This record gives sequence, structure tokens and C-alpha cells, in this order.
Amino acid sequence: MEVVIRPDADDAGRTVAGIIHHAIVEGTKTLGLATGASSLGVYRDLARRHRQEGLSFADVDAFLLDEYIGLPPSHPQSYAQVIRRELVDHVDLDPVRVHAPRGTASDPQQEARRFERTLTAAGPVAVQILGIGVNGHIGFNEPGSSLASCTRLKTLTDDTRRDNARFFGGIDEVPRHVITQGLATIGRASHLVLIATGPHKAYAVAAAVEGPVSAMCPASILQLHPHATVVVDELAAARLEQQPYYRHIARHRPAGQGY
Ligand code: GLP
Repeated sequence: MEVVIRPDADDAGRTVAGIIHHAIVEGTKTLGLATGASSLGVYRDLARRHRQEGLSFADVDAFLLDEYIGLPPSHPQSYAQVIRRELVDHVDLDPVRVHAPRGTASDPQQEARRFERTLTAAGPVAVQILGIGVNGHIGFNEPGSSLASCTRLKTLTDDTRRDNARFFGGIDEVPRHVITQGLATIGRASHLVLIATGPHKAYAVAAAVEGPVSAMCPASILQLHPHATVVVDELAAARLEQQPYYRHIARHRPAGQGY
């Protein structure tokens, strides 16, 4: 795992966008997209790269991590709609090639299995963007999620619903249930790139990167992955004990070595 410390959130977003840009130029055809405030800077910079540098998503299939059960894709806070608004509308990614679990499927369990099958058939995802919840969740895998889990229905903690209430009219409007890729599903991507910014993420980042691998911190599965990059700003890096080493690596990076 490599930990990359950037001065601020914008810089962290640009770093992750750079990783994706490089992967697409190298022929990547499948991307894994995350939702949440942390990835907005990434999408902003990808849109800029599309406009100014000719970065094209025309050959790319994109897979979302998760979706709220009960929200139709037209709901402004459904993750399908968030990705459309924040990324798809600004680049040449074909909306038909953006795949998400359907939150209004009549049988969510069956929908979860369908999504897992689609992902398995098209995958592996080459680069998976991840955010992290303050409780260490990735996707919507709350603490206690099986490290071997596949896409399935999950019940959100009230803490997560409270965190996400900022996007809704209040906590009561935040759905209780979701479909999320599992931790094993996420782990099948070739490159995991987690972005975390702001002081409220500092504990979760330290637990994920330097704590034990544990279902109590789902993001700690990155420690088991052969290619994981954690991009943080100074505020989110604040609780990392090995900061001097991460900075040392950055100062002595072999010329031409990518992430
Ligand atoms: C949500 C999403 C996650 C995201 C996390 C952090 O619950 N399901 O994929 O990583 O919360 O969100 P934010 O970046 O807004 O803090």
C-alpha cells in the first residue's frame, strides 16, 4: 500500500484524477466509481482533463459501488443520479455504460446478485475509486461486514444516515437500506485508490492504514490488496504514525514511477 499525502483536498482530487487519466491512456476499459463528497474533486478534475486535455471515456464501462434501496435513478440523491450530475454530464462517458444496482428493483437480493454477475462478467475493474466513512466503511460496507462479502443488501447504521443527511432534507429522508458491492467484490479490482480529506476522516484513515485488518474497519482490507493507493490531504493524514516514512517515499520516488 502506498500513502500519498497532499497539501489540500483539491490537490488530492487532482492526484486521483491523474491516476485515472494515466490508466485510461494505458488502455483501461473499466472504472469503479464512488459517490460522496470526497470524490467530487476527482470528478471535477476529470471533467477538466476531458475539456482541456482530450481525456476520453468513450471506451469505458463504469460501475458504481452502491445504491440506496427505494430511490429511483431520477431521484437527485440516488447514486446513479449523483454520478450522472457530477461526472457523466461533463465527459463523453456513455450513460448506457454506467452500471449501478437498481434501488427500485422489486427483489433487492436478486438485484444484488444480478449486479455481482454483471461485474464479474465485465471485470475486473481496473481502477476502483473509494471514499471512506468516518466509521471506516467503504461502499456501504458498515463495520462488521464480512471480509469475504459480495454485492448484497445492507442496513445502514444511524451514524451513516446522520452523516449523509446533509445531502437530503434530514435523517428521516435517508433510506435505511442499500445495495452495496461487498468487500471481496471491491477487492477484485486491480487497483484500489482511496481518497480521504478533512479532519473528520483522520481516525478512520489511521485505522484503515495502520490498524489491524478487521471487519470492524472495512477499509482495512486495502492492506490485503496487492495494489492499493491511499491519497489523503494533510488534515486526514494527521493521525498516521508513519507520516515521516510516507513523506520520505514521496521525496525519493524513482523517476518515472507511477502510482
Ligand atoms: C457514503 C458512500 C461511500 C463514501 C462515504 C464517504 O456513505 N456510500 O462510498 O465513501 O459515504 O462519503 P463522503 O466522501 O461524503 O464523506
